[in-house]
Amino acid sequence: MSRDISTVGVVGLGTMGAGIVEVLARAGLTVVGVDVSAEAVARGRARIAESTTRAAARGKLTEEQQRDIFERVTLGTDLTSVVSADLVLEAIPEQLAHKQALFAELDKICGPDTILATNTSSLSVTELSVATTRSSRVVGLHFFNPAPVMKLVEVIRTVVTEPDVLADVVALAERLGKSPVVAGDRAGFIANGLLFAYLNHAASMYEQKYATREDIDAAMRFGCGLPMGPLAVLDLVGIDTAYEILEQMYRQSRDRLHAPAPILKQMRTAGLLGRKSGRGFYTYE
Ligand code: CAA
Repeated sequence: MSRDISTVGVVGLGTMGAGIVEVLARAGLTVVGVDVSAEAVARGRARIAESTTRAAARGKLTEEQQRDIFERVTLGTDLTSVVSADLVLEAIPEQLAHKQALFAELDKICGPDTILATNTSSLSVTELSVATTRSSRVVGLHFFNPAPVMKLVEVIRTVVTEPDVLADVVALAERLGKSPVVAGDRAGFIANGLLFAYLNHAASMYEQKYATREDIDAAMRFGCGLPMGPLAVLDLVGIDTAYEILEQMYRQSRDRLHAPAPILKQMRTAGLLGRKSGRGFYTYE
């Protein structure tokens, strides 16, 4: 049976989670955001404040609308606060065991009709779904970075997802002003399945000192009309996240195009994570 989604829980308030909270609240939904520590919650709140302030400065939001967004959002560290959500979306780091443990916990906390969704970009939605007793009410709901800007949302169905659940989640994505696409459960789904071989290749090209970072990025911007070059996109996605996505895809596909370039692992180990740490392929203020 179809249900109207008006309250959404978001677990994980990192780059993606905070962006998704903003998107939901801007569309008029009530949002409960949760992260593990007061510091993580404060960072999430600051991300939303920064992004909505930028939108206000560009005349896309009035100050009153910005205030309304914060009125619709409750952020905290108590996972049980998502109890009344119609849908809970997890956006925690890409580690299967952590996500499975979280889904098992959410399965106990939430009512039987609540839809559980994952923002994973490379883990198996099916493997996450079987950590719950409601695998037919589990879907992937994959946003792109920056979530408030990028129009695409991939809705991932498993072999047991109920058609009504899929339809409700597609309708939610449309209500958010996004352009949803539906795909089956395969590492990388549609967009990352195509994008990450290219990003990985760009990292290798840089590692081989074939060209400078600026020239690699300029070639794709000015030659192919892309808004950002591949090394800048890797910095935006986060080197740790990009590495994890590639590794998962490689594990599933065994396609060497997805074997992470060694430089990505080295950068991850050294803490050069891209924009979020202030330095990746480029340095940020
Ligand atoms: N958060 C919120 N809003 C942002 C933002 C951010 N981090 N960065 C930019 N924006 C907004 C700006 O406020 C501006 O909004 P308005 O048009 O409403 O005024 C708009 O985006 C355009 O920004 P700018 O004019 O400053 O810069 P731009 O034209 O270069 O656009 C961009 C910035 C949207 C990021 C653009 O460069 C772009 O599309 N880049 C490609 C990003 C990309 O490839 N993302 C996918 C990554 S892969 C992924 O996410 C999948 C995964 O699983 C990891």
